[in-house]
Amino acid sequence: MAHEAFQTPKGVHDILPHDHDYHTFIKKVVRHRARQAGFRRISTPIFEYTELFKRSIGDTSDIVSKEMYTFEDKKGRSLTLKPEGTAGVVRSYIQNGMNQLAQPVLLYYFEPHFRYDRPQKGRYRQFWQFGFEVIGESDPALDAQVIQLANKINEDLGVAGIFKLQLNTIGTPESRKKYMQALQDYYVGKERSLCEDCNNRLAHNPLRLLDCKQEDCKILAHLAPAMKDYMDKESMEYHEELLVYLKEIGIEYDENPKLVRGLDYYTKTVFEFWDKEEGAQNAIGGGGRYDGLVEILGGQATPAVGYAAGVERLIANMKREKIKVPSKDDLHVFVAQLGVEAKIKCLPLIAELREAGIKTMGALGKGSINIQLKLADKFKVAYAVLIGITEVREGTAIIRDMQKGVQETVKMEKVTDRLVNLIGEENLDKYSPGELLYS
Ligand code: HAM
Repeated sequence: MAHEAFQTPKGVHDILPHDHDYHTFIKKVVRHRARQAGFRRISTPIFEYTELFKRSIGDTSDIVSKEMYTFEDKKGRSLTLKPEGTAGVVRSYIQNGMNQLAQPVLLYYFEPHFRYDRPQKGRYRQFWQFGFEVIGESDPALDAQVIQLANKINEDLGVAGIFKLQLNTIGTPESRKKYMQALQDYYVGKERSLCEDCNNRLAHNPLRLLDCKQEDCKILAHLAPAMKDYMDKESMEYHEELLVYLKEIGIEYDENPKLVRGLDYYTKTVFEFWDKEEGAQNAIGGGGRYDGLVEILGGQATPAVGYAAGVERLIANMKREKIKVPSKDDLHVFVAQLGVEAKIKCLPLIAELREAGIKTMGALGKGSINIQLKLADKFKVAYAVLIGITEVREGTAIIRDMQKGVQETVKMEKVTDRLVNLIGEENLDKYSPGELLYS
């Protein structure tokens, strides 16, 4: 067992090559669907001033009050590793004058985020999210499109069938204020039946009492006043219109009056994708409208809507559904050699093979040809190229079919062509971004 200091800290993990196949695949799907819908990619810094998250997500939210990685820099400024993506994107929208661009501005991201959560299945301290933000327009048709995009990606990843959209509206800040007062009044005298968290939330964040998972709290929440009785007319109409659009594009949903989300910036539409069996526990993604946030952060009043999904949770569910993703990491050829002169001939050959799109392993070790062939087997290559002293002298190389165990001797200058033939043009890895450069 390695020394504890040389293990990953609690709650974080390496993304090993096998999982990178999933990461790459998800990233490609997200990029493809984002481009189709006119989104452009943005990356905001890993850390921002702490105040940004406090103002955006809310002081009393679980994220800000318990889960942030906050530290001081050498000048005593308080900085925080980003626990979510929306705050940074909105900060960037304002800071970079994106209100001057055609509205709405459509941005997407694929980034690591950090929350000091209690580590458990699907809950990590560093996790990846991709997300979409549509800033600069208020229309339920946009909310519907964001939901449709999220659902499309779930479909592309093969997990749409195991999740169901949960939908609610939490109204304008004014109607919510009235409702929160009604909730606080309702809970007077019931404090002893509430869990410690709910008791703490009651004064500042009573909405969160509605989605507490504790049994007693759930019973009280069930009997609590209903949000819709306090909802303003505009939010109700907005919501009704959204339902019409969702029906039209064939997206099934559960209306969930207890869905409030854990971030303070939401207005009107909120939604999450829940596992049909496990419910809220490991939501795959969530989002909603946040019409007040740009103004809260110092910009002009600008409506917005967005969504983010958890990459680790998506991968876990893809694996649960036994979904395999393509891997392009498999090698075609292993080059084995004996002696310094052979090794000298191998280096240009390896470069030539790779240039031709043949994925080539050149371990060039000192072991015998047999040991190198065993290694070639372990690397699961289709072919090995063997060059010994005789081959150097005769200007040839041996190509060995690793599966069949047969081999042929080929003129050195014909090795690449012969291998291209054997592997097949269609299987070559010829993608070379350098060729796409233009000036
Ligand atoms: P969120 O619901 O806090 O929303 O996070 C979105 C998703 O990130 C979750 O549904 C989950 O899949 C994943 N996630 C969150 N915390 C963890 C964790 N500790 N470990 C693993 N996965 C996690 C937001 O972050 C909002 N910014 C979404 C949004 C975008 N709203 C509007 N625009």
